[in-house]
Amino acid sequence: MRLLLKGGRIIDPSQNMDATMDLLIEKGTVSRIATTIPERKGEKTAVIDLTGMILTPGLIDMHTHLREPGHEYKETVQTGSEAAVAGGFTSIACMANTEPINDNRSVTEFILRQAQAAGMARVYPVAAVSKGEQGKFLTEFADLKDAGAVALSDDGNPVMDSRLMRNALEYASSLGIPIISHCEDTNLSAGGQMNEGYTSTELGLQGIPNTAEHIMIARDIALAEFSNVSVHIAHVSTAESVRIIREAKKRGVMVTAETAPHYFTLTDEALKEFSTNYKMYPPLRKNEDVEAIKEGLKDGTIDAIASDHAPHSSIEKDVEFEYAANGIIGLETSLSASLILVKENVLSLSQLIEKMSTNPSGILKIPGGTLKAGSNADITVIDLQKKWIVKADTFRSKSRNTPFEGRKFRGRAVLTIVGGNVKYSILSLPGRKI
Ligand code: DOR
Ligand code: ZN
Repeated sequence: MRLLLKGGRIIDPSQNMDATMDLLIEKGTVSRIATTIPERKGEKTAVIDLTGMILTPGLIDMHTHLREPGHEYKETVQTGSEAAVAGGFTSIACMANTEPINDNRSVTEFILRQAQAAGMARVYPVAAVSKGEQGKFLTEFADLKDAGAVALSDDGNPVMDSRLMRNALEYASSLGIPIISHCEDTNLSAGGQMNEGYTSTELGLQGIPNTAEHIMIARDIALAEFSNVSVHIAHVSTAESVRIIREAKKRGVMVTAETAPHYFTLTDEALKEFSTNYKMYPPLRKNEDVEAIKEGLKDGTIDAIASDHAPHSSIEKDVEFEYAANGIIGLETSLSASLILVKENVLSLSQLIEKMSTNPSGILKIPGGTLKAGSNADITVIDLQKKWIVKADTFRSKSRNTPFEGRKFRGRAVLTIVGGNVKYSILSLPGRKI
């Protein structure tokens, strides 16, 4: 079966490509990109006209929480990977804080089997750094890698013990598997409900200072620099964090970083509504932080944008603020929220795709992030003009905890192709069977 995508504007940062071209998919891989690729008579070819659309390497979300095993009422591998393709993601990496924790190969293999059965986005498990994410004993990195884990992280639970982190970084480096660090000094953040600042004082909620994040980023950078190994920093939210990472990169430290759309679109003032859908870790910060995050994205300090999709049900969210769980969903809003950066001239479209596809693939060392001939036909088609209003009730995700409810967005994924197969489409395809 051949699939011919005609007339789209192809943006592929991996090839420095931005041109209106045709793209041919054969046997699940990209076989050719050319100005015009004719339909060959006699061969079974489905044709999709993408005039006016943007065609990019499939988006990769390097930080997702699927709740399976353990909390299937919030999300399953099936619903999470359906939400992924609806948001334009062809690959997602899922964090280890499931129940049981993904700290042994049977959980990693289980997630991979569920993903295979779901047949939606490609799912790459991230296994835990420490047993039970308890921060005491390292997991079996080599065994987990062999089982299919692409990275290691105690995300949700920071590794507070610096010696354990040093050992983790060195051991992971010898195996060529990245460590993703959730940077939080739990002594500084203890009891915190939101960002520490004017708004937390006004609302009478206990704050989490910026230092809780950047102290740990500075530590991880010190460890990576000392051992000459790499580290990836998850969900960067503060101005100081951006500065520390920028300086480390200048010195040649092998540090990469991601942020999430809510850290460049929302501030802690949103908390005035007292909605628990603005409660997450790290918390929404101040305007200065938002500006610094944008600057960090612009100058390359921040390599990637990840959703930190963290589904919770009304049982955890429709409670007093203090008792509400941390986390918000993001798979189905990430791209639209991130397109704001293009509108604001913070990033070019190509730079945005780099941060949502090419760079995550490089950091995790997974396939994707490119449309070079021979690569997997994982493709996202974006309609920049498509207007839509966020209604969580319509989401594929099982959870509804979005901070963007009712938000009017312009631009979204309209077609998602994984391995040459259409997994999501809201394109009208007159008369074309695909
Ligand atoms: O807000 C958050 N939610 N931050 C985390 O680090 C974990 C996540 C979750 O698993 O719910
Ligand atoms: Zn985290």
